[in-house]
Amino acid sequence: MKTADEIRRSLESTYMSHEIDEKLPLIEEINRLKKEKNAVLLGHNYMTPDIFHGVSDIVGDSLYLSKVAADTKAEIILFNGVHFMAETAKLMSPEKKVLIADLKAGCSLAESITRKDVQDLKAKYPGIPVVTYVNCTADVKAETDVCCTSANAVQIVNSLDSDEVIFLPDEYLAGNVRNQTKKKIISFPGRCMVHEMYSPEDILSVRRQWPGVTVISHPECKEDVVAISDFSGSTSQMAKFIKDSGAKDVFLVTECSMGDNLRAEFPERSFVSSCRTCPHMKKITLEKIRDALLYERYEIELDPEVIEKGRMAVQRMLDISYK
Ligand code: 13P
Ligand code: SF4
Repeated sequence: MKTADEIRRSLESTYMSHEIDEKLPLIEEINRLKKEKNAVLLGHNYMTPDIFHGVSDIVGDSLYLSKVAADTKAEIILFNGVHFMAETAKLMSPEKKVLIADLKAGCSLAESITRKDVQDLKAKYPGIPVVTYVNCTADVKAETDVCCTSANAVQIVNSLDSDEVIFLPDEYLAGNVRNQTKKKIISFPGRCMVHEMYSPEDILSVRRQWPGVTVISHPECKEDVVAISDFSGSTSQMAKFIKDSGAKDVFLVTECSMGDNLRAEFPERSFVSSCRTCPHMKKITLEKIRDALLYERYEIELDPEVIEKGRMAVQRMLDISYK
Protein backbone atom coordinates (compact mmCIF):
# COMPACT_ATOMS: atom_id res chain seq x y z
CA MET A 1 0.00 0.00 0.00
CA LYS A 2 1.41 3.43 -0.98
CA THR A 3 1.93 6.05 1.72
CA ALA A 4 0.14 9.42 1.54
CA ASP A 5 3.50 11.03 0.60
CA GLU A 6 4.05 8.58 -2.26
CA ILE A 7 0.53 9.22 -3.56
CA ARG A 8 1.04 12.99 -3.30
CA ARG A 9 4.27 12.77 -5.31
CA SER A 10 2.60 10.72 -8.07
CA LEU A 11 -0.16 13.34 -8.39
CA GLU A 12 2.09 16.41 -8.43
CA SER A 13 2.75 16.32 -12.19
CA THR A 14 -1.00 16.66 -12.93
CA TYR A 15 -2.73 18.52 -10.06
CA MET A 16 -2.16 21.76 -8.13
CA SER A 17 -1.30 21.25 -4.46
CA HIS A 18 -4.72 22.51 -3.27
CA GLU A 19 -6.39 19.94 -5.56
CA ILE A 20 -4.24 17.17 -4.08
CA ASP A 21 -5.19 18.37 -0.56
CA GLU A 22 -8.86 18.00 -1.54
CA LYS A 23 -8.37 14.54 -3.05
CA LEU A 24 -6.23 12.91 -0.36
CA PRO A 25 -8.98 12.42 2.30
CA LEU A 26 -11.22 10.75 -0.29
CA ILE A 27 -8.35 8.55 -1.47
CA GLU A 28 -7.70 7.53 2.14
CA GLU A 29 -11.40 6.75 2.69
CA ILE A 30 -11.51 4.55 -0.44
CA ASN A 31 -8.33 2.71 0.55
CA ARG A 32 -9.79 2.04 4.03
CA LEU A 33 -13.14 0.89 2.62
CA LYS A 34 -11.59 -1.54 0.15
CA LYS A 35 -9.68 -3.27 2.97
CA GLU A 36 -12.84 -3.54 5.10
CA LYS A 37 -14.80 -5.00 2.17
CA ASN A 38 -12.04 -7.31 0.84
CA ALA A 39 -12.35 -5.57 -2.51
CA VAL A 40 -9.76 -5.30 -5.26
CA LEU A 41 -9.75 -2.14 -7.38
CA LEU A 42 -8.66 -2.70 -10.98
CA GLY A 43 -7.71 0.43 -12.88
CA HIS A 44 -7.41 0.80 -16.64
CA ASN A 45 -4.51 2.88 -17.97
CA TYR A 46 -6.99 5.62 -19.04
CA MET A 47 -8.16 6.38 -15.50
CA THR A 48 -7.26 9.84 -14.22
CA PRO A 49 -4.11 9.92 -12.01
CA ASP A 50 -6.06 10.28 -8.74
CA ILE A 51 -7.74 6.92 -9.52
CA PHE A 52 -4.77 5.33 -11.32
CA HIS A 53 -2.07 6.20 -8.76
CA GLY A 54 -4.26 6.88 -5.72
CA VAL A 55 -6.66 3.95 -5.30
CA SER A 56 -6.05 1.23 -7.91
CA ASP A 57 -4.55 -2.02 -6.60
CA ILE A 58 -3.71 -3.32 -10.04
CA VAL A 59 -3.43 -1.25 -13.23
CA GLY A 60 -2.98 -2.25 -16.83
CA ASP A 61 -4.41 -2.72 -20.31
CA SER A 62 -7.59 -4.64 -20.99
CA LEU A 63 -5.73 -7.93 -21.64
CA TYR A 64 -3.85 -7.91 -18.34
CA LEU A 65 -6.87 -6.79 -16.33
CA SER A 66 -9.02 -9.59 -17.77
CA LYS A 67 -6.37 -12.09 -16.62
CA VAL A 68 -6.21 -10.48 -13.17
CA ALA A 69 -10.02 -10.65 -12.90
CA ALA A 70 -9.86 -14.39 -13.60
CA ASP A 71 -7.21 -14.96 -10.91
CA THR A 72 -8.17 -12.66 -8.01
CA LYS A 73 -8.99 -13.98 -4.52
CA ALA A 74 -10.86 -10.81 -3.45
CA GLU A 75 -14.61 -11.04 -2.74
CA ILE A 76 -15.47 -7.86 -4.62
CA ILE A 77 -13.97 -6.60 -7.88
CA LEU A 78 -14.53 -2.88 -8.45
CA PHE A 79 -13.59 -2.21 -12.06
CA ASN A 80 -12.39 1.31 -12.70
CA GLY A 81 -12.71 1.37 -16.44
CA VAL A 82 -15.69 1.06 -18.76
CA HIS A 83 -18.71 -1.25 -18.72
CA PHE A 84 -17.44 -3.89 -21.18
CA MET A 85 -14.32 -4.31 -19.01
CA ALA A 86 -16.42 -4.89 -15.87
CA GLU A 87 -18.55 -7.37 -17.85
CA THR A 88 -15.39 -9.20 -18.90
CA ALA A 89 -14.36 -9.40 -15.22
CA LYS A 90 -17.81 -10.88 -14.41
CA LEU A 91 -17.43 -13.45 -17.22
CA MET A 92 -14.10 -14.53 -15.76
CA SER A 93 -15.20 -14.48 -12.09
CA PRO A 94 -18.97 -15.14 -12.19
CA GLU A 95 -19.11 -16.10 -8.51
CA LYS A 96 -17.69 -12.72 -7.43
CA LYS A 97 -19.49 -9.45 -6.88
CA VAL A 98 -18.29 -7.25 -9.76
CA LEU A 99 -19.02 -3.54 -9.46
CA ILE A 100 -18.62 -0.47 -11.66
CA ALA A 101 -18.95 3.03 -10.23
CA ASP A 102 -21.11 4.31 -13.13
CA LEU A 103 -23.18 2.00 -15.33
CA LYS A 104 -23.18 4.64 -18.08
CA ALA A 105 -19.43 4.36 -18.62
CA GLY A 106 -19.85 2.82 -22.09
CA CYS A 107 -17.70 2.63 -25.23
CA SER A 108 -18.43 3.71 -28.81
CA LEU A 109 -17.00 0.43 -30.10
CA ALA A 110 -19.11 -1.72 -27.76
CA GLU A 111 -22.19 0.27 -28.79
CA SER A 112 -21.47 -0.18 -32.51
CA ILE A 113 -22.49 -3.85 -32.71
CA THR A 114 -25.23 -6.14 -31.37
CA ARG A 115 -25.49 -9.88 -30.93
CA LYS A 116 -27.92 -9.94 -33.87
CA ASP A 117 -25.31 -8.25 -36.12
CA VAL A 118 -22.88 -11.07 -35.29
CA GLN A 119 -25.54 -13.73 -35.94
CA ASP A 120 -26.26 -12.13 -39.34
CA LEU A 121 -22.55 -12.08 -40.24
CA LYS A 122 -22.21 -15.74 -39.25
CA ALA A 123 -25.16 -16.59 -41.50
CA LYS A 124 -23.60 -14.62 -44.37
CA TYR A 125 -20.13 -16.20 -43.92
CA PRO A 126 -20.83 -19.72 -42.60
CA GLY A 127 -17.88 -21.59 -41.12
CA ILE A 128 -15.59 -18.54 -40.91
CA PRO A 129 -14.28 -18.00 -37.37
CA VAL A 130 -15.34 -14.85 -35.51
CA VAL A 131 -12.76 -12.88 -33.54
CA THR A 132 -14.18 -10.05 -31.49
CA TYR A 133 -12.19 -7.29 -29.93
CA VAL A 134 -12.79 -7.37 -26.18
CA ASN A 135 -14.37 -3.89 -26.53
CA CYS A 136 -17.85 -5.34 -27.02
CA THR A 137 -20.75 -6.40 -24.79
CA ALA A 138 -20.87 -9.81 -23.08
CA ASP A 139 -23.80 -10.62 -25.41
CA VAL A 140 -21.56 -10.15 -28.44
CA LYS A 141 -18.75 -12.16 -26.79
CA ALA A 142 -21.26 -15.02 -26.36
CA GLU A 143 -21.64 -15.16 -30.15
CA THR A 144 -17.92 -15.21 -30.82
CA ASP A 145 -15.25 -17.91 -31.23
CA VAL A 146 -12.40 -16.06 -29.58
CA CYS A 147 -11.79 -12.57 -28.21
CA CYS A 148 -8.69 -10.46 -28.67
CA THR A 149 -7.33 -7.15 -27.41
CA SER A 150 -5.06 -4.66 -29.12
CA ALA A 151 -2.15 -6.42 -27.36
CA ASN A 152 -2.68 -9.76 -29.09
CA ALA A 153 -5.00 -9.24 -32.10
CA VAL A 154 -2.47 -10.40 -34.72
CA GLN A 155 -1.42 -13.39 -32.57
CA ILE A 156 -5.05 -14.47 -32.09
CA VAL A 157 -5.94 -14.10 -35.80
CA ASN A 158 -2.80 -16.02 -36.87
CA SER A 159 -3.55 -18.81 -34.38
CA LEU A 160 -6.79 -19.74 -36.18
CA ASP A 161 -6.91 -22.63 -38.59
CA SER A 162 -8.64 -20.68 -41.36
CA ASP A 163 -7.53 -18.44 -44.24
CA GLU A 164 -10.41 -16.03 -43.55
CA VAL A 165 -11.48 -14.40 -40.29
CA ILE A 166 -14.44 -12.20 -39.34
CA PHE A 167 -12.90 -9.47 -37.18
CA LEU A 168 -15.33 -7.31 -35.14
CA PRO A 169 -16.18 -4.51 -34.46
CA ASP A 170 -13.27 -2.03 -34.91
CA GLU A 171 -12.65 -1.34 -38.59
CA TYR A 172 -9.32 0.42 -37.95
CA LEU A 173 -7.93 -2.28 -35.67
CA ALA A 174 -9.09 -4.76 -38.34
CA GLY A 175 -7.17 -2.74 -40.97
CA ASN A 176 -4.04 -2.67 -38.80
CA VAL A 177 -4.28 -6.44 -38.27
CA ARG A 178 -4.83 -6.92 -42.04
CA ASN A 179 -1.49 -5.17 -42.62
CA GLN A 180 0.29 -7.74 -40.43
CA THR A 181 -1.29 -11.02 -41.49
CA LYS A 182 -1.71 -13.15 -44.62
CA LYS A 183 -5.31 -14.01 -43.66
CA LYS A 184 -8.31 -12.39 -45.33
CA ILE A 185 -10.03 -10.12 -42.80
CA ILE A 186 -13.76 -9.41 -42.99
CA SER A 187 -14.42 -6.26 -40.94
CA PHE A 188 -17.30 -4.20 -39.54
CA PRO A 189 -17.72 -0.40 -39.40
CA GLY A 190 -17.18 0.15 -35.63
CA ARG A 191 -14.84 2.94 -34.43
CA CYS A 192 -13.38 4.33 -31.26
CA MET A 193 -14.59 7.93 -30.90
CA VAL A 194 -11.26 8.95 -29.35
CA HIS A 195 -8.77 7.38 -31.74
CA GLU A 196 -10.69 7.93 -34.99
CA MET A 197 -10.10 11.68 -34.62
CA TYR A 198 -6.34 11.51 -35.17
CA SER A 199 -4.99 12.11 -38.67
CA PRO A 200 -1.52 11.80 -40.24
CA GLU A 201 -1.47 15.64 -40.34
CA ASP A 202 -1.54 15.70 -36.50
CA ILE A 203 1.59 13.58 -36.43
CA LEU A 204 3.37 15.58 -39.12
CA SER A 205 2.55 18.79 -37.26
CA VAL A 206 3.94 17.47 -33.96
CA ARG A 207 7.05 16.17 -35.76
CA ARG A 208 7.58 19.65 -37.26
CA GLN A 209 7.34 21.28 -33.82
CA TRP A 210 9.38 18.67 -31.90
CA PRO A 211 12.00 17.24 -34.30
CA GLY A 212 13.11 13.82 -33.07
CA VAL A 213 9.90 13.16 -31.12
CA THR A 214 8.94 9.47 -30.80
CA VAL A 215 5.36 8.90 -31.95
CA ILE A 216 3.40 6.10 -30.27
CA SER A 217 -0.14 5.33 -31.39
CA HIS A 218 -2.90 2.97 -30.30
CA PRO A 219 -3.96 0.43 -32.98
CA GLU A 220 -7.55 1.76 -32.80
CA CYS A 221 -6.15 4.68 -34.87
CA LYS A 222 -6.52 4.71 -38.66
CA GLU A 223 -3.99 2.66 -40.65
CA ASP A 224 -2.30 5.78 -42.10
CA VAL A 225 -1.74 7.12 -38.57
CA VAL A 226 -0.26 3.83 -37.37
CA ALA A 227 1.88 3.57 -40.54
CA ILE A 228 3.80 6.78 -39.76
CA SER A 229 4.12 6.12 -36.00
CA ASP A 230 7.34 4.79 -34.49
CA PHE A 231 5.42 2.22 -32.45
CA SER A 232 1.83 1.05 -32.09
CA GLY A 233 0.50 -1.18 -29.33
CA SER A 234 -1.94 -1.62 -26.47
CA THR A 235 -1.84 0.89 -23.62
CA SER A 236 0.53 -1.29 -21.56
CA GLN A 237 2.68 -2.10 -24.59
CA MET A 238 3.05 1.67 -25.12
CA ALA A 239 4.30 2.09 -21.53
CA LYS A 240 6.71 -0.84 -21.97
CA PHE A 241 8.03 0.62 -25.23
CA ILE A 242 8.72 3.95 -23.51
CA LYS A 243 10.56 2.18 -20.69
CA ASP A 244 12.61 -0.11 -22.96
CA SER A 245 13.40 2.36 -25.76
CA GLY A 246 14.50 5.21 -23.51
CA ALA A 247 12.61 7.61 -25.84
CA LYS A 248 13.01 11.12 -24.40
CA ASP A 249 10.25 13.14 -26.13
CA VAL A 250 7.10 11.14 -26.74
CA PHE A 251 3.89 12.02 -28.62
CA LEU A 252 1.14 9.74 -27.35
CA VAL A 253 -1.57 9.30 -29.96
CA THR A 254 -4.18 8.06 -27.52
CA GLU A 255 -6.43 9.05 -24.61
CA CYS A 256 -5.28 12.03 -22.54
CA SER A 257 -4.89 10.44 -19.09
CA MET A 258 -2.36 7.95 -20.42
CA GLY A 259 0.15 10.82 -20.74
CA ASP A 260 -0.67 12.12 -17.25
CA ASN A 261 -0.12 8.68 -15.71
CA LEU A 262 3.15 8.10 -17.57
CA ARG A 263 4.48 11.58 -16.74
CA ALA A 264 4.40 10.59 -13.06
CA GLU A 265 6.12 7.27 -13.81
CA PHE A 266 8.82 8.72 -16.09
CA PRO A 267 9.50 12.22 -14.73
CA GLU A 268 12.69 12.56 -16.78
CA ARG A 269 10.83 12.19 -20.13
CA SER A 270 8.69 14.78 -21.93
CA PHE A 271 5.22 13.83 -23.06
CA VAL A 272 3.35 15.61 -25.81
CA SER A 273 -0.13 14.29 -25.17
CA SER A 274 -3.13 15.69 -26.94
CA CYS A 275 -5.97 16.18 -24.52
CA ARG A 276 -8.48 14.01 -26.30
CA THR A 277 -10.42 12.34 -23.52
CA CYS A 278 -12.76 9.37 -23.53
CA PRO A 279 -16.04 10.69 -22.07
CA HIS A 280 -16.92 7.17 -20.92
CA MET A 281 -13.71 6.57 -18.98
CA LYS A 282 -14.08 10.04 -17.47
CA LYS A 283 -17.46 9.11 -15.94
CA ILE A 284 -15.52 7.23 -13.26
CA THR A 285 -14.57 9.61 -10.42
CA LEU A 286 -13.22 9.24 -6.88
CA GLU A 287 -16.61 10.23 -5.40
CA LYS A 288 -18.44 7.56 -7.41
CA ILE A 289 -15.80 4.96 -6.47
CA ARG A 290 -16.26 5.77 -2.77
CA ASP A 291 -20.06 5.38 -3.13
CA ALA A 292 -19.69 2.17 -5.15
CA LEU A 293 -17.69 0.62 -2.28
CA LEU A 294 -19.88 2.05 0.45
CA TYR A 295 -23.19 0.87 -1.06
CA GLU A 296 -21.71 -2.07 -3.05
CA ARG A 297 -23.13 -0.75 -6.29
CA TYR A 298 -23.51 -0.98 -9.30
CA GLU A 299 -23.38 -4.71 -9.71
CA ILE A 300 -22.81 -6.35 -13.10
CA GLU A 301 -25.38 -9.07 -13.69
CA LEU A 302 -25.33 -11.37 -16.69
CA ASP A 303 -27.50 -14.13 -18.03
CA PRO A 304 -25.99 -17.62 -17.25
CA GLU A 305 -26.05 -18.55 -20.96
CA VAL A 306 -24.09 -15.39 -21.80
CA ILE A 307 -21.61 -16.13 -19.00
CA GLU A 308 -21.01 -19.67 -20.22
CA LYS A 309 -20.47 -18.77 -23.89
CA GLY A 310 -18.78 -15.39 -23.40
CA ARG A 311 -16.38 -16.82 -20.84
CA MET A 312 -15.19 -19.45 -23.35
CA ALA A 313 -14.30 -16.75 -25.90
CA VAL A 314 -12.26 -14.78 -23.33
CA GLN A 315 -10.66 -17.93 -21.85
CA ARG A 316 -9.56 -19.07 -25.33
CA MET A 317 -7.87 -15.70 -25.79
CA LEU A 318 -6.08 -15.98 -22.42
CA ASP A 319 -4.98 -19.54 -23.22
CA ILE A 320 -3.43 -18.41 -26.52
CA SER A 321 -1.89 -15.26 -25.05
CA TYR A 322 -0.44 -16.71 -21.85
CA LYS A 323 0.44 -20.22 -23.08
P1 13P B 1 -6.08 -1.45 -24.24
O1 13P B 1 -6.52 -2.85 -24.41
O2 13P B 1 -4.89 -1.09 -25.08
O3 13P B 1 -5.88 -1.13 -22.79
O4 13P B 1 -7.22 -0.48 -24.81
C1 13P B 1 -8.51 -0.43 -24.35
C2 13P B 1 -9.22 0.73 -24.90
O5 13P B 1 -10.38 0.94 -24.61
C3 13P B 1 -8.50 1.60 -25.81
O6 13P B 1 -9.30 2.61 -26.26
FE1 SF4 C 1 -14.12 2.80 -26.07
FE2 SF4 C 1 -12.46 4.44 -27.32
FE3 SF4 C 1 -13.25 5.00 -24.85
FE4 SF4 C 1 -11.54 2.95 -25.31
S1 SF4 C 1 -11.17 5.11 -25.63
S2 SF4 C 1 -13.35 2.93 -23.99
S3 SF4 C 1 -12.33 2.21 -27.29
S4 SF4 C 1 -14.56 4.92 -26.67
